[in-house]
Amino acid sequence: MISKNTIDRVFEASRVEEVLGDFVNLKKSGSNYKGLSPFSEERTPSFMVSPVKQIWKDFSSGKGGNVVAFLMEHEHFTYPEAIKYLAKKYNIEVEETEQSQEQKEQADERESMYLVSEFAAKYFQHNLLKTDLGKAIGLSYFKERGFSDETIKKFGLGYCLDEWSNFTSEALGKGYKLEYLEKTGLTIVKEEKQFDRFKGRVMFPIQSMSGRVLGFGGRILTNDKKAAKYLNSPESEIYHKSKVLYGIYHAKQAIAKEDNCFLVEGYTDVIQFNQSGIENVVSSSGTALTPEQIRLINRLTKNITVLFDSDAAGQRASIRGIDLILEQGMNVKVCAFPEGEDPDSFAKKNSEEDIRLYLKNNSKDFINYKASLLMEEAKNDPVKKASLIRDMVTSISKIPDHIQQEVYVQETSRIMDISEDVIFSTLAQLAGATGKQVPKKTKSFEVVRDDPAPREKVDELYVLEKTIISLLLLYGSVEEEFEDLVLKTDEKGEMILEPEVQKSKVYEKVFLDLQEDEVAFANENFRKIYQQVIGKYQEDENFSIDNFVNEMAVENASEVTNILMEEEQYVLHDWERMEIFVKEKKEGIGRLVNETILSLRRYLVNRKINELNQEVKDAPPEESPGILQDIMDYISLKKVLSNKLNRVM
Ligand code: CTP
Ligand code: MN
Repeated sequence: MISKNTIDRVFEASRVEEVLGDFVNLKKSGSNYKGLSPFSEERTPSFMVSPVKQIWKDFSSGKGGNVVAFLMEHEHFTYPEAIKYLAKKYNIEVEETEQSQEQKEQADERESMYLVSEFAAKYFQHNLLKTDLGKAIGLSYFKERGFSDETIKKFGLGYCLDEWSNFTSEALGKGYKLEYLEKTGLTIVKEEKQFDRFKGRVMFPIQSMSGRVLGFGGRILTNDKKAAKYLNSPESEIYHKSKVLYGIYHAKQAIAKEDNCFLVEGYTDVIQFNQSGIENVVSSSGTALTPEQIRLINRLTKNITVLFDSDAAGQRASIRGIDLILEQGMNVKVCAFPEGEDPDSFAKKNSEEDIRLYLKNNSKDFINYKASLLMEEAKNDPVKKASLIRDMVTSISKIPDHIQQEVYVQETSRIMDISEDVIFSTLAQLAGATGKQVPKKTKSFEVVRDDPAPREKVDELYVLEKTIISLLLLYGSVEEEFEDLVLKTDEKGEMILEPEVQKSKVYEKVFLDLQEDEVAFANENFRKIYQQVIGKYQEDENFSIDNFVNEMAVENASEVTNILMEEEQYVLHDWERMEIFVKEKKEGIGRLVNETILSLRRYLVNRKINELNQEVKDAPPEESPGILQDIMDYISLKKVLSNKLNRVM
């Protein structure tokens, strides 16, 4: 683990405007910077960076956070990767903290496996580009396939010499341990002898999302029918086939930017597309697509286009995995290539413009495509047709969105020439088996009166909690006058409620009032933020939130950034109005704090009353007087709160 000290130094040194400036063209605007969103295509800038608060916000996509959140979002780094990137930029030495022996060994083992894999990739590339045999055999093969020098370097392609243990000997000679050579599968150990797994093959390194080498695919160059065309690294501590997509490292930014991912079958399809200038492409490398792989894509886009060769067998096979994609709520299109072509051969023959045009014109919505394909198969065979409809409906049932499901039912009905009723009832049967809900069949434009959609409910509790957090973050250390009703005795000795004005800091007021009722936040994020912020204010009354965001967990930081930047949004277009807005708000802070706390307390008391009412119904008779008394107490508390609230407002 990276030491806390290093993390602190990294945050201290990092300037959000400098780091983001490497990725986004930023222009000064008032006290902030603004630029075009790197997460969407846009013409008017809605991306803002605040050097004062050291945070950024993208108003077009809603994303925001501190400098690390940006690197994680934009570069798809993990947290430690982002810290290391910044450390490098600012020349800070990265210290690692002490780990337990077991953690250390495991981390060491993984790290050693990475190192050996990275060495192997370099060595294979060296063979390819610098040795006579490599050039004559490997490089000429790649050239024949049409790969440029640039492409070969981009994908780190290489060649493993056709000797029994050339690579293994080289690695051992360089001090890499046999244990890790074996664990990564680069070396096969048999009866004390060592062999290179990839002997005589051209090499395709498989990289993680962040560019580390996890394993290899190696293609044979001879026509040996007995040997596999491609040989892949075995599963290992660092290479989990089901969680890796070939090409993802080079594709991630393009996928997010184009908001679509092309999925192909092979290594060479990915490479050839890249060389043509189309980078948003990945491959599951010959294995069936897994849910984990889909999740990798799902983080970057909701849209996926599956590309496959023209042969029918290939199409049927590809189609099977697609239900998994639908299940994750993604929009799936498919595109088949002309007779005898795969994406590799097609891209090799055509210009980028032509490829893009072809993809555009031939990508079909998956459900439509599947329905047409099945119809083709079942043409004059009613029995077959029945079973294919079931197959079709299975796909539709995977779509989480009901409205979309309904659209597809209509389409399928049209294409397969079968009534919507039949499809809906098949859907219901399937759902019955899985316990899912099915949209009811409705005629177009029909309004269903007995089952009105519930109106969008504003979550009052969420809004109140969020307001409290905002007030704390923005004005926690501001001193305000708060009017409260206090219990006093008048001249006649009777108890009365009297307004009294007290001065205190906003954070104290919030803390004390909430403590009085033992209010805990329902939203877990808010609860964590609340505890942290209160803790900070108690340590140092004048603590400022400016650097606070950096110390928070990423999920919390993004919530906090949203709150802080909501105000800045106005600056984008109208600075003057913002000034006025802030002033107005500042003048009313005391009132706003009071109002929000009282509303929250009243909300909670109300909820308690409802709960107790429910409880009293189910309680045995001997317990009900106690509960009723509680209800009465809460009702009078609610009255007091309502009174106070009326005074405030
Ligand atoms: N594959 C594999 N093992 C094999 C055959 C194929 O792992 N024995 C994987 C590879 O990732 C390959 C993909 O399946 O890229 C697609 O296979 P195929 O279409 O046969 O290969 P191509 O990529 O077309 O390879 P080439 O053009 O080099 O023949
Ligand atoms: Mn091919």
